[in-house]
Amino acid sequence: MNITYLRENNSFKLDTDNTSYVIGIVDKEGFIGHAYYGARIPNEDVAYLMRINENPLVPSLNERDRSSFLDTFPTEFSGNNVGDYRESSIKIRDKNGASGIQLLYRAYRIIKGKPKIKGLPETFSDEANAMTLEIYVEDANLGIEGTLSYSVFNNSDAITRSIRIKNVSDDTIYLDKIMSMCLDMDDDNYRMLVLHGSWARERHIEYRKIGYGKQSVSSIRGESSHQEHPFIALVGENTTQAYGDVYGFNFVYSGNFIGQVEKNQFNSLRVVMGIHPENFAFKLVPGDEFYAPEVVMVYTNQGLGHMTRTYHDLYRNHLMRSSFLRKSRPVLINNWEATYFDFDNEKLLDIAKTAKECGIEMLVMDDGWFGNRNDDNSSLGDWWVNETKIKGGLKKLVDDVNEIGLKFGIWFEPEMISPDSRLYRQHPDWAIAIPGRIPCRSRNQYVLDITRKEVRDYVYNCLATILKSANIDYVKWDMNRQLTDISSARLEADRQGELMHRYVLALYEMQERLIAEFPNLLLENCSGGGARFDPGMLYYSPQIWCSDNTDAIERLSIQEGTALIYPLSTMGAHVSVCPNHTVGRVTPFETRGNVALAGTFGYELDVTKLSKEEKEAIPKQIATYKKFNKLIREGDYYRLASYRENNYYDCYQVVSKDKSEALITFVQVLSQPNMHSIKIKLQGLDDNKIYKISGSEESHYGETLKNAGLLIERLNGDFQSKLIHLTEQ
Ligand code: GLA
Repeated sequence: MNITYLRENNSFKLDTDNTSYVIGIVDKEGFIGHAYYGARIPNEDVAYLMRINENPLVPSLNERDRSSFLDTFPTEFSGNNVGDYRESSIKIRDKNGASGIQLLYRAYRIIKGKPKIKGLPETFSDEANAMTLEIYVEDANLGIEGTLSYSVFNNSDAITRSIRIKNVSDDTIYLDKIMSMCLDMDDDNYRMLVLHGSWARERHIEYRKIGYGKQSVSSIRGESSHQEHPFIALVGENTTQAYGDVYGFNFVYSGNFIGQVEKNQFNSLRVVMGIHPENFAFKLVPGDEFYAPEVVMVYTNQGLGHMTRTYHDLYRNHLMRSSFLRKSRPVLINNWEATYFDFDNEKLLDIAKTAKECGIEMLVMDDGWFGNRNDDNSSLGDWWVNETKIKGGLKKLVDDVNEIGLKFGIWFEPEMISPDSRLYRQHPDWAIAIPGRIPCRSRNQYVLDITRKEVRDYVYNCLATILKSANIDYVKWDMNRQLTDISSARLEADRQGELMHRYVLALYEMQERLIAEFPNLLLENCSGGGARFDPGMLYYSPQIWCSDNTDAIERLSIQEGTALIYPLSTMGAHVSVCPNHTVGRVTPFETRGNVALAGTFGYELDVTKLSKEEKEAIPKQIATYKKFNKLIREGDYYRLASYRENNYYDCYQVVSKDKSEALITFVQVLSQPNMHSIKIKLQGLDDNKIYKISGSEESHYGETLKNAGLLIERLNGDFQSKLIHLTEQ
C-alpha cells in the first residue's frame, strides 16, 4: 500500500497490492478530478489520464464552455446546480434558498493509519497497516469546508472513502443530500451485479444490463433491508469467478441508502453511493459538522472470487471488532421454530436436556418470554419476564439451564413498541408517528423514537437490567419492521428530515454501549431474518441471522449472495425440521447440517421430537462443525458452481490460508440420470502440493485439481450433499 502526492502534475496516487487510484487537481480553481481506477500503473505515467488537453478544455482556457467542461469532467465529488447535469453528490439549501454548491481543492494531508468517523461504524487500522489521504475542499461562496478521505490497507485491494463537511459560515445551511462517494469512469460494457430479495429470500444475485440513464439499488425503509442491498458491483462482460474486471462498492451503513450507476451521453459511468436523499435534510448551524458513512471499494481483474476474498479479509481484519470473530461460537439451539410463542420453562428445560445429550452448547430463548406476549400482537417494550411462562423467574431458568450444562441466550427487540403494551399506554409519543395521522402498523407494532435520549436510555436499561439479572451469554437483537410515518415528537420542524439518520446513529450508540458494558456477550443481530445484514451491523456483532428461511435449498442462493461480500463466519445458519416451515420442502438431515456448516451453525427445532436417527446425527454434525469451523471461519472462500446458474448443483470451497487443507461442499439439488460424474475445477490450492481426497484412496496435485478438476460422483436422489476434505500429503 502507498499514497503518493505527485507534485509535477498536482495529483494523488493510491496504490494497493494490485490496484491504483489516481486523483488529479485541475485548473486554477482546483477541480478535483478522477483520473484512473484499475490495475496497478507506474507513477510516471499518470499525467495524461486527466484528458484536460481535450475539448472542451478547462475553464481558464475556455470559460465560454464552462458548462461543457463541468458536464464531462470526471470528478471525485460532483457539485449541484453549477453545470454538471449528472447525479450530484451533494445538495444544500443556503440562506437564500439556493442550492448551488461545488467543493474545490484547497489542501491535503497524507497520514498513517485511519482517523475515526464520528458516531459511525467503519473500517479501522493501526498506523502500520493503513494510510489515509485527506483532501481538504471548500465552497468559499457558501462557507462550507469538507474533507474527502481515502484509505488503503496493507495486503488488501480495498480502498475506503468517506466525506465530512462543516458549515464555517455565519448562516444556517440545510444539507439535503450527501453521497459518500462518486466515481466517474468509462463504460467498458460492464454489467451491474446487485443483491435483491424479500423476507425469506434475502440477497439473491441479479445481473442487470447498464443502459443509458440511471439505475440504482436503494432503501428508504429505515434499514438496509431485505429488498435491496447496499452493494453494487460493475462486472466485465466476460468476468468469471477467477478472471476479469470487477468494481465492488459496499456501504458501511444500516439505514436508508442509494447506490446508483448512471450512463451518460459520452458512454461514461458515474457511480454514487450514500445515504438516500428521500426524507433527508440535515440542518447545519454555524460550526456544525456532518460525517457521511464510509464506502468500501474493491477493484480487481482477477474475477468475482478475488473481490469476495478481499471483502472477507478486510472485514475480518479491519471492520469486525468482536472477540468472538476468531473463536468457535457455541453450538446453539433456538426455540423459535420449535415452539414459536408456545413455551414455558418446563418446555425449555426439556429441550435443554435433550440438547445437552446431543452435544449442543447453548439454549437461546427467542421471542415470547416477556410482558404478556403470547403472540406477536403485544408487549414489545414491556421487558420484564412473564412469570406465568417462566415460573420462578429468569434467573432460575438460566441457572437451571446452566445446571444442565448449557449456556443461555435471549432474544430482544429493543427498537420496537406494541400499541398493546404498558409502555405505549404510558408513553404513546415514544412511537414514531406523524401528528394527526394514523401511523402504519406492521406486525402490529410501532417503531420507538430512539433518537430521543430518554427513550434510548429506557430500553437500554431494560436490556442491561435483564442481562445483569442472570448468567446470559448471548443476545439476539431483532428488528421486525421497517420505518414509516417519519416524524419525531421531539425534533423541531426544520429538523424532521434528520430523523432517519439520527435513528441509525442512535442504534449504533445503543449497540456500542451494549458491547462496551458486556464485552463477553455474543451479540447476533437480526431483522425479520436478514434485513439488516450489512457491514455497519458487523462492526457491532460478529454474526447476523441470515434469513428466516432455514430450508437448506433456499439457503443456497441466500448464502451465495451473502457470502459474495461477507465472511462465512458472519452468517447465522441453523438446522431446522422438515417439512420446512417456510417452503414445506423435505431435505435430508445431513444436507441441512452441511449447508448450515457454512455459517455459524446451530439448531432451530424441537430436539425432543426428533427421531432416534436424527438425534444420533447431531453429535456427528457437531463433531464435523468442530473439525472444520476454524477452516470455514478463517479460510479463503471460493465459489465453484452455483445452483442458481446451473439449476442442478451447488459447490463451494474453503481453503486454509497456508493451503494445507480445503473443504468442498457439494449439494446436488436435483439428480440427473445417465450422466458421468461431475467435474469441478478447484481453486486456491497450491499447484505443487499433493492433496489427499477424503472418502477415496486418491491424491492429486493442486495443479491437476485446478486444471483438470475433481470428479464428484453423482449422489442418489434430490437434495443430497457431501463434504470433501482435502489434506496436504
Ligand atoms: C424474526 C426473527 C426470527 C424470530 C422472530 C421472533 O422474524 O428473524 O428468527 O426471532 O422474529 O418474533
